Amino acid sequence: MKPRLARAGLLAGSFAMYVGAVCAQEAGLTGDKHAGDVVLARQLLMTEVEANMMAIDFALGGRETFLKTLRDNAYTISSLLSAFTHLFPPQTKPGAPLANDWPTPTAASIKIWEDFEAFYETTQAAANIALDASKAANMDAFKTAGAKLRAACDSCHARYTTSQDAPKP
Ligand code: HEC
Repeated sequence: MKPRLARAGLLAGSFAMYVGAVCAQEAGLTGDKHAGDVVLARQLLMTEVEANMMAIDFALGGRETFLKTLRDNAYTISSLLSAFTHLFPPQTKPGAPLANDWPTPTAASIKIWEDFEAFYETTQAAANIALDASKAANMDAFKTAGAKLRAACDSCHARYTTSQDAPKP
């Protein structure tokens, strides 16, 4: 009786491991097998955010620019930030063993995962600031919104990034 029970326990254990393995490989969970690529994807999004922010920074510094261009850039930033927040599966924490594709050093701080809801809200708030900027009725209103957006970039980086690679305020 005893050995049989022990074997049943062993079987149950293997089944649990099998289910775990199958679940871990569920299609669509790219954080599982492609964590390095997820890190790269969020960095590429940020690079694109930066490219769109450049004209806004110049306008804040006094350069003449079309309002339409600035509004379009702010709209793009809003879309990119809305997607950015979803690219933080736990497999992409700093120091997580990336035993899958290839390791990408991340500048993201562990604070993101310690209180993910707070990070999520910070990103959503920044996306909304960008959206407001994209609706500015005139250049003065845009500059006020653009300055708020620049402050949102800098305060998030100060709070949620660690490495030298990430821009500092
Ligand atoms: C809510 C937080 C948050 C906001 C808002 C934010 N960033 Fe970032 N940014 C990050 C994080 C986190 C990283 C590090 C990503 C990584 O390395 O995994 C980063 C990285 C970057 C990088 C480096 C990308 C690379 O190639 O490694 C640039 C450039 C950048 N941000 C620009 C901006 C600009 C410009 C804005 C404002 C329009 C902005 N960010 C707004 C969180 C934010």
